[in-house]
Amino acid sequence: MSTTILSHSREKKNGIKPAIAVSFLSNARRLQTVVRIIQENTNTNYITHSEVIEHRAEHTRRWAHFRHSLLADDIKCAIRRLKKREGGVLVATRGRSILGVAVLLFNKRQHYGVIEDIVVSERYRGCGIGHKLIAAAMHTMTDAKLENVILESGIRNESAHGFFRSHGFKTAAVMFLKRLGDSD
Ligand SMILES: CC(C)(COP(=O)(O)OP(=O)(O)OC[C@H]1O[C@@H](n2cnc3c(N)ncnc32)[C@H](O)[C@@H]1OP(=O)(O)O)[C@@H](O)C(=O)NCCC(=O)NCCS
Repeated sequence: MSTTILSHSREKKNGIKPAIAVSFLSNARRLQTVVRIIQENTNTNYITHSEVIEHRAEHTRRWAHFRHSLLADDIKCAIRRLKKREGGVLVATRGRSILGVAVLLFNKRQHYGVIEDIVVSERYRGCGIGHKLIAAAMHTMTDAKLENVILESGIRNESAHGFFRSHGFKTAAVMFLKRLGDSD
C-alpha cells in the first residue's frame, strides 16, 4: 500500500491500544478510501477560498455536487508527487485501515510546503493521529529543505485552528469577503 513508514507507535484511548503507522501512499490502490475519508469527515466549516476557486465547493457554505470526482483527481495527482519529491499523500493506518490522511505539496523553488488537506476520521480524533500526520509532514518538508509550511483553514473551523496553533502555526493572512449587493 505505501512506502517508508515515518512513525509507528501505540496509542491509548479508552483502554484500546491500536498501533498507528504513518507512511506515504506509493500508488492509487487506496484512492477511493482516501477520498471517502476526506469527504465523509469534513463538514462545511472545512470550506476555504481555495475549495471554492478549485470548484470543490459551490460557495463557502455548500460543497459542490461533483466534489467526489474532483477530490479523486486531486488525490491521484498528489500521490504522483511522491516520485518527483514534490509532496504526496500521507496516511495514518492501523493494520489495513486508514484512519487519517494529509495531502502535501512541495514548492521547492520557493522553499515552502503546503498541507492541502489534513483529515482524521471523526471517531479516531483526539488520540494523537492528527499530531502524527502533521509531525510526519513537517519532518518530510524539513528533509526536502523547505523553509515554511502553510495551510488554509476556513474561518469557522475553530477547533482545527486550535490544533494548528498548538503545533506552532501562526495566522499569516486574513481573507475578506463581501456579498455583492449587500448594503453595509
Ligand atoms: C484537525 C484534526 C486533523 C486533528 O486531528 P486529531 O487526530 O483529532 O488531533 P490530535 O488528537 O493529534 O491532536 C489534538 C491536539 O490538538 C489540540 N487541539 C485540538 N483542538 C484544539 C483546540 N480547539 N484548541 C487548542 N488545541 C486543540 C489538543 O490540545 C491536542 O493536543 P494534545 O495532544 O497536546 O492534547 C481533526 O480534528 C480533523 O480531521 N478535523 C476535521 C478536518 C479539518 O478541519 N482539518 C483541518 C483543515 S485546515
